[in-house]
Amino acid sequence: MPVTCVIGTQWGDEGKGKIIDLIASRADVVVRYQGGANAGHTVRVGGEQFIFHLIPSGILHGKINVIGNGMVVDPAQLLAEIGECSARGVAVEGNLFVSSLAHLVMPYHKALDRISEGRRGGTALGTTGRGIGPAYADRATRSGIRVAELFHAEHFAARVRANVEEKNRIIAALGGAEQLDAAAIADEYLGHAARLRPFVTDTVRLLRRALAAGRYVFVEGAQGMLLDVDFGTYPFVTSSNSSTFGVAAGSGLPARRIDEVMGVTKCYTTRVGQGPFPTEEAGEVGERLRRAGGEFGATTGRPRRCGWLDGVALRYAVDLLSCDSIALTKVDVLTGFDEIKVCTAYQHDGEILREFPTDPVVMSACRPVYDALPGWTEDTRGARHFADLPRRCREYIDHIESLLGRPVGLVSVGPDRDETIYRYR
Ligand code: GDP
Ligand code: IMO
Ligand code: MG
Repeated sequence: MPVTCVIGTQWGDEGKGKIIDLIASRADVVVRYQGGANAGHTVRVGGEQFIFHLIPSGILHGKINVIGNGMVVDPAQLLAEIGECSARGVAVEGNLFVSSLAHLVMPYHKALDRISEGRRGGTALGTTGRGIGPAYADRATRSGIRVAELFHAEHFAARVRANVEEKNRIIAALGGAEQLDAAAIADEYLGHAARLRPFVTDTVRLLRRALAAGRYVFVEGAQGMLLDVDFGTYPFVTSSNSSTFGVAAGSGLPARRIDEVMGVTKCYTTRVGQGPFPTEEAGEVGERLRRAGGEFGATTGRPRRCGWLDGVALRYAVDLLSCDSIALTKVDVLTGFDEIKVCTAYQHDGEILREFPTDPVVMSACRPVYDALPGWTEDTRGARHFADLPRRCREYIDHIESLLGRPVGLVSVGPDRDETIYRYR
């Protein structure tokens, strides 16, 4: 059976949660491989809404859901999500497995996230404040604490003591007012340990056994290609490989078994936090997209920056991801615009660029060159077949297909499960 990756092709919030939930009905296993509670994946079922930050979006189907070794896990957040799911009748125990190798997000990571953002002032990244960068930094410098260590109380308390002693010095040197209490942190985390224990396992072995047994594994990306720490718009990115390049390392799945990639693409562009965004519409168009699309962060509630589809960035993303197909979301949001624009090139310093510039200084100074397509007025939320869509909407989708050279296999026309058009099944 194939391993299918479902990955965002833009700056996150493309609607990955909805798509994963839809296709999870066909999956045996859903695995997240990177990121942490910076993600906010929304699933709507019959008007009921779930927002997952750490738990994979396949949990509603009672499939095996894995928090992979490449993730950074905030135990209190995870327990809150487990509690919320259970309270709403979603079976979690027996369906959720947390890698013993995943790294813990500690209170000092969140403190350092806040402090470093504050120190950046006008050049702040606009992080989610969930401690993601500092947690991955500790992983790289080998002072991170992994989930497995929670189950050795003395060892854990000693690791926390050593880390807190160091972080308190850093915080003080950076002018931060707060000083953390190692004993209180160790107590809190060891208190979580007993509740987490039933979920923790060797997920690498679990996944490889599932593959060997012919199970269908879906990989759920968080963030998006353009937020990837290596290939995104660095430094305005997250701290993990949120593209397909992180899948093997963050899950233990063999790279050569990753055989299908579905890129989730919103039919316009949004971005939360700072960083270059050539097609951003700061005025009325942006406001209209934000209102019609409900573009407010699922994790932080921040208004998302909005603009037209950036075909240059998108071509770069789908090529790097090697997307086999595109799931195009939020098509209903474009109803009522007289004209819909698609950026097909950038203008920079008197030159036309057709390729995405990887130089951040160049990228920041790029201006969009647009194709303008006629809009449509019909509501599309009731469409269930491609032919139900207004002609101009179909032309817009055809335009995206030819721009990207990939088929749009799924079209989403509303947040709910059934507001979906499957084109090639
Ligand atoms: P994710 O991070 O990629 O999972 O996306 P988010 O959940 O952060 O943001 C997507 C938002 O759009 C959520 O509120 C979804 O319920 C909503 N959504 C998803 N698909 C559609 C769609 O086709 N139309 C509309 N109007 N909303 C959608
Ligand atoms: P999902 O999975 C959109 C952005 C933050 C910030 C940058 C770094 O819901 O698509 P971090 O807290 O990761 O250090 O912040 O990345 N960011 C996201 N933007 N969707 C997300 O997740 C994001 N996760 C992080 O806004 O610009
Ligand atoms: Mg989101």
